[in-house]
Amino acid sequence: RSAVYYAEVIRNNGIPLPKEDEFLYGEFPKNFSWSVATTAYQIKGAWRADGKGLSIWDQFAHTPLKISNDENVDVVCDSYHKLKKDLASLRALQVSHYHFSISWPRVLPDGTTKHVNEAGLNYYERLIDVLLASNIKPQVTIYHWDLPQALQNVGGWENETIVQRFKEYAALLFQRLGDKVKFWLTLNEPYVIANLGYGYGTSAPGIFARPGKAPYIVGHNLIKAHAEVWHLHNETYHPKQGRLISITINSDWAEPRDPDKQEDIDAVRRYVQFYGGWFAYPIFKNGYYNEVMKTRIRERSLAQGLSTSQLPEFTEGEKQRIKGTFDFFGFNHYTTILRKSNARGKLFVLLSLIKFLTDRSWLDSGSFWLKVTPFGFRKILRWIKEEYDNPSIYITENGISERGELGLNDAWRIHYYKSYINEALKDYTAWSLMDNFEWATGFAEKFGLYYINYTDPNLPRIPRESSKYYSSIILCNGFPD
Ligand code: NOJ
Repeated sequence: RSAVYYAEVIRNNGIPLPKEDEFLYGEFPKNFSWSVATTAYQIKGAWRADGKGLSIWDQFAHTPLKISNDENVDVVCDSYHKLKKDLASLRALQVSHYHFSISWPRVLPDGTTKHVNEAGLNYYERLIDVLLASNIKPQVTIYHWDLPQALQNVGGWENETIVQRFKEYAALLFQRLGDKVKFWLTLNEPYVIANLGYGYGTSAPGIFARPGKAPYIVGHNLIKAHAEVWHLHNETYHPKQGRLISITINSDWAEPRDPDKQEDIDAVRRYVQFYGGWFAYPIFKNGYYNEVMKTRIRERSLAQGLSTSQLPEFTEGEKQRIKGTFDFFGFNHYTTILRKSNARGKLFVLLSLIKFLTDRSWLDSGSFWLKVTPFGFRKILRWIKEEYDNPSIYITENGISERGELGLNDAWRIHYYKSYINEALKDYTAWSLMDNFEWATGFAEKFGLYYINYTDPNLPRIPRESSKYYSSIILCNGFPD
């Protein structure tokens, strides 16, 4: 839809929304954390600088046909060399926090602590220092998808020894950065790591294993790795003195295709339990997988002629170790889809798999999977509150993409932020500070509050209108009239 259309939407204070989604003006709680996010691989560039090792994304992106248009990610926004520029953008936004990730191979080139790359660590020390000097608190993700290739060469997340490797890497970060970083996230979106990286193969390391057990083995190891690092953090910082560590779970919301059909309503419930619930149940509930996961994977395994389920089980000891390993619920959310019961044949299964089931009245974005559905944000927040016994929820990512050169007046992004932020509770992180590399879809989908002109060798960060809107919300700690 055109910019004019979205501008119209805003002038009319949003398209007509159902009653329950009426806009609530008002202030956010005092000390609300206003944040904005990026990740190492998506902005840093400098892929071979100062002793950095190769990551699975370096490898994947240099393999022909893996990324849209085979785009080159070696420089991206060159944030490794443009600290000052990024700091200026953050200061102009007036955010209280900055959420970024650490590149494992920049710190440990072969993935192990046998060789620590001091230059890589120094870079993060400098980044954290300049943030703190500007009164911006770091929120650090330990792993956002760029596994050292050397570890992938021995099986990556499929190999159980990764749990120990991850723990050693985290120990080093706590030791070197822990005095200054008080807010950590162990893993970003384990669902994507397991399912897209080791199931569909559309993300690095690009392993296609469907149907297969690789995603479930990977998921199992991710949960164990997260739990170990949560315990390590507690042992290292005891008492914790205001320090927090958790995991980032992602999940779309789902609406029944036909709200009067019980089987469609059931399909919605299954979807949410399978998606975020795969990881959230063991960690936030009881140390083991939920019934939906267990039943569906058992059924699928039997259908493949296997005698046992492909979903591994945790031992009693592991369950106890995993259960409750969170200080808050880190949550990435973007959109809602429609679900229909699978009972209606293979075509529906396929359609729902590729997520083409959407409501035509939902506004589009630059990503085929992302529709503007703020009502779903509130509903899934409510689901998390009820399902996981009212944890503190931190919104660790939320944002909208565009395609093409649409100018700086991004009315659709203002509309999106206005309506989604209105649904938020405790903490909010906008995705993203600047345009960046959107994984397999390359540079076409732009999420930035700051526009990056990639054809200019200086890679200037140019504020879009939405960046001014976001900072005015931060300044008011609520919505400007
Ligand atoms: C999910 C991921 O965490 C991030 O890396 C990605 O770019 C955004 N959300 C948008 O898809």
